[in-house]
Amino acid sequence: MLTDSYGRVATDLRVSLTDRCNLRCSYCMPPEGLDWLPSPDLLTDDELGRLVRIGVELLGITEVRYTGGEPLLRRGLPGIVARTAALAPRPEISLTTNGIGLARLAPALREAGLDRINVSLDTLDQATFRTLAKRDRLDDVLAGLAAAADAGLVPIKVNAVLMRGVNEKEAVPLLRYCLEHGYQLRFIEQMPLDAQHGWRREDMVTADEILDSLCAEFTLVPDDPRARGSAPAETFLVDGGPARVGVIGSVTRPFCGSCDRVRLTADGQIRNCLFARQESNLRDPMRAGAADGELARIWQRAVASKLPGHGINDPGFLQPARPMSAIGG
Ligand code: 5AD
Ligand code: SF4
Repeated sequence: MLTDSYGRVATDLRVSLTDRCNLRCSYCMPPEGLDWLPSPDLLTDDELGRLVRIGVELLGITEVRYTGGEPLLRRGLPGIVARTAALAPRPEISLTTNGIGLARLAPALREAGLDRINVSLDTLDQATFRTLAKRDRLDDVLAGLAAAADAGLVPIKVNAVLMRGVNEKEAVPLLRYCLEHGYQLRFIEQMPLDAQHGWRREDMVTADEILDSLCAEFTLVPDDPRARGSAPAETFLVDGGPARVGVIGSVTRPFCGSCDRVRLTADGQIRNCLFARQESNLRDPMRAGAADGELARIWQRAVASKLPGHGINDPGFLQPARPMSAIGG
């Protein structure tokens, strides 16, 4: 098992398949993009498959989520999913995507064994989308969502990040849209993970503010917090249900104490937290011929040293060197 010194057990593996992306969401990347990882540094499909197998077979991983950058940009994604689905015990397999290309890929991903999908959608307004993501792709994202629903990748979750002065007025329209289409919407507080280090606490739209906006239009009844487990979202029944909305107060309501996640970057580094300042290299020992058991031990040590919390609210907080696009959500 992957246990840390605070008694938490990591069972949810998040794998970044690429650091590249076809959008430039301002909370993540500068408009000009970033220096992408060089291809020889990236894990091959076989290397990736091996590490995921070690996680599942030797280390108790029960859930595998593929992320990016934008994971749909990784060639061979359906094959990667199919390999994951063939592991025993079969993990739950999910994907976090910006939705571009999903209209084409959703059926193949479903066929390969993908169970669930999270799509990022921060605005329903074309102009705001362009301001926020620097590309004119809103229609592609909405078409991707519809295709995912058609392919049966349900329940579909939608992630939204609100930013002051950009899309902060969109909480209500986003929820209406998701209720209409049967998507489960979750708002995520903006975290200091952007490559350009532009995060400012004053610009963060807090969980309290989001709930205030929603409560002006909807009746929200909180779910029993005991049912939450390690899930980061606080959920609410909307207008008597059955629909729900979630709010992830990553910064103002941290949930580090019940975190069950561990991350693998596209270049084969284990990160025990989004905000970790250290990584453990699995790629190089693997390429040097390490056996499964040795790799599993490095991985266990990496998780054992996980800190109790992200420290965003501590005076000495330092943002991690890698941005979100190179860590995976
Ligand atoms: N803060 C909060 N959420 C973020 N995401 C990306 N960057 C940030 C950030 N700085 C979200 C994306 C996506 C998921 C991977 O994380 O919108 O839904
Ligand atoms: Fe791309 Fe996701 Fe970063 Fe937006 S948040 S630029 S969609 S990786």
